[in-house]
Amino acid sequence: MPSLDGKKILVGISGGIAAYKIPSLIRLLIKEGAEVQVIQTPYSKNFITPLTLSTVSQKPVYSDFFEQNTGDWHSHIGLARNCDLMVIAPTTANTLSKMAYGQADNLLLAVYLATPAPVIVVPAMDVDMYNHPATQNNIKILSDRQNHIVLEAEEGELASGLTGKGRMPEPETILQEIILFFQKKNSLNGKTFIVTAGPTYEKIDPVRFIGNFSSGKMGFAIAEELAFRGAEVHLVSGHVSIPYPIQSNITVHKIMSTVEMLDVVRKHFPESDGAIFAAAVADFRPVSTIGSKIKRENKASLEIKLEKNPDIAAEMGKIKKDKQITVGFALEMNNELLNASKKLISKNLNFIVLNSLKDKGAGFGTDTNKITIIDKNNKKTVFELKHKRKVAEDIVNYLVDLLK
Ligand code: CTP
Repeated sequence: MPSLDGKKILVGISGGIAAYKIPSLIRLLIKEGAEVQVIQTPYSKNFITPLTLSTVSQKPVYSDFFEQNTGDWHSHIGLARNCDLMVIAPTTANTLSKMAYGQADNLLLAVYLATPAPVIVVPAMDVDMYNHPATQNNIKILSDRQNHIVLEAEEGELASGLTGKGRMPEPETILQEIILFFQKKNSLNGKTFIVTAGPTYEKIDPVRFIGNFSSGKMGFAIAEELAFRGAEVHLVSGHVSIPYPIQSNITVHKIMSTVEMLDVVRKHFPESDGAIFAAAVADFRPVSTIGSKIKRENKASLEIKLEKNPDIAAEMGKIKKDKQITVGFALEMNNELLNASKKLISKNLNFIVLNSLKDKGAGFGTDTNKITIIDKNNKKTVFELKHKRKVAEDIVNYLVDLLK
């Protein structure tokens, strides 16, 4: 079976010289079984004609919201919702910037804004435009966006006569990236994972609790990445203020305390392929919860006796079967590698994700994280500081490799 059999791909073309290569890309996509719908910006018609594009794609090509002669409406919403992937190639500096800031002054941009489908962005421009901080900033904005892949421009001779970074990758390379994308998307079909996320709260009295500053961002990003690759996900989350994921294959279980989190994890763990413990679990809870609000009057101080909570990761580590994979996190301040390795062993994890509070941009609350993965053989893999969504991709890639 061709590798893109039945896949609906929207190819968006903006106005750069590399547009002349897009008919080859369309041919390759169709050869692999894809159905291609082309949208081009009005300016790109200077580089490649609608006639050429409609001939190779075997479909009408759209570039305006409606036909001048007949008034026929090209619904951007219809186009946006009826595709499995949108590929914008070439993406000029101008289109890149408008995509980054949500402008929609042509059909291609309106479709981009309206599509729930993943997007592959293929920037191509002259070297100085590519290296300009504004362009690099826009590339970063789009790379950090969920379900976006930005391909790196290649080095070489440019249309201006200059040499440097800015060339669009060849159609064969873009095709490989598209095939890889769909392979990745389905790599966890039929698997089920549990993800714990956010903080747990332990009640002191009806209005007070012991908690921590965990935002839930890392755990949610992992749940979304697993779901993107086709897995069924049980996301067991403490109280957070970020939006819950909306993918239909993520079931959100909202809990408050560590014991409640353990109950949900215990229920789903035996039938799962594994668990990622990204929650910041409260290690201790008040021995007893006071039934009415504690009053300030007549008290110079207050002592609350705490007892130890169960260790969810360790409990699952005890009952896990050979094929199940468990992944833990360690947020450390001192002796980071040693402490993380100890946790890896004591909780019987397959690997542990270490983030150090000493690293700027890592840990609680931030949008970014910097991690080191340590596995059972004490192999350490260090990653750069990245957006938590990209960190989630690295963690899930590691997990997928273990499943092979
Ligand atoms: N964890 C858990 N249940 C707990 C405590 C921790 O499931 N009661 C999980 C966390 O989700 C994380 C890993 O165990 O994946 C390590 O958490 P961490 O708080 O760093 O470790 P602790 O064992 O609590 O050790 P300490 O707080 O003393 O460093």
